[in-house]
Amino acid sequence: MVCDQFSYFSELAKQKLTAKRFDHCLNVAKTAKSLAEENGVDPQKARLAGLLHDFYKETDSEVFVEMIKNGHYDSDLLSYSRGVWHGLLGADLLKQEYEFYDEEILNAIRYHTITDPRMDQLAKIVFVADYIEPKRNFRQVCLAREIAQENLDAAVLFEIRSSIKYMMIRSARIHPAMLNTYNALYANNSKLHDLIQKLEENWK
Ligand SMILES: [Fe+2]
Ligand SMILES: [Fe+2]
Repeated sequence: MVCDQFSYFSELAKQKLTAKRFDHCLNVAKTAKSLAEENGVDPQKARLAGLLHDFYKETDSEVFVEMIKNGHYDSDLLSYSRGVWHGLLGADLLKQEYEFYDEEILNAIRYHTITDPRMDQLAKIVFVADYIEPKRNFRQVCLAREIAQENLDAAVLFEIRSSIKYMMIRSARIHPAMLNTYNALYANNSKLHDLIQKLEENWK
């Protein structure tokens, strides 16, 4: 069933997205599947969630602005951009336009840009897979991959820490959900911080 859906949405994504973005979605699907196998999560579900995470990444901003203005969304969302909207609102579009109702996958799509303290294992896997898929080539990607092999929560924490630092340096607005996730799940978890620090030492 999920496999059939993968072929169906894969065809749609190929038509909907640029070749580069479609390739990214396939890479995230593949990476999410491996992480799922390593973390006891349904691999086919993770593969589909990975494929779909950026399904609305190239949708016009006006579509999202209209949704926020006319739907039951916090108007503060208007202060963000498509970078945030394509996850949070993309999940709702997928529901409306394709009658896709798998809430676990929809939440993984919703949270992949801003995270959420309620993230389950599947959502964490998509968040991390998006960051470490094989075509990513930022400075610390190899370290991020190594952390993901060791511990999924540590990989989420490493990505949140890096993202917050990145946004602060650029004076960008940080969505409160990301700060809430950090505080709720990781602020006092010295074990995870220590693990990251230990692995960081090896890369210096
Ligand atoms: Fe995305
Ligand atoms: Fe992505």
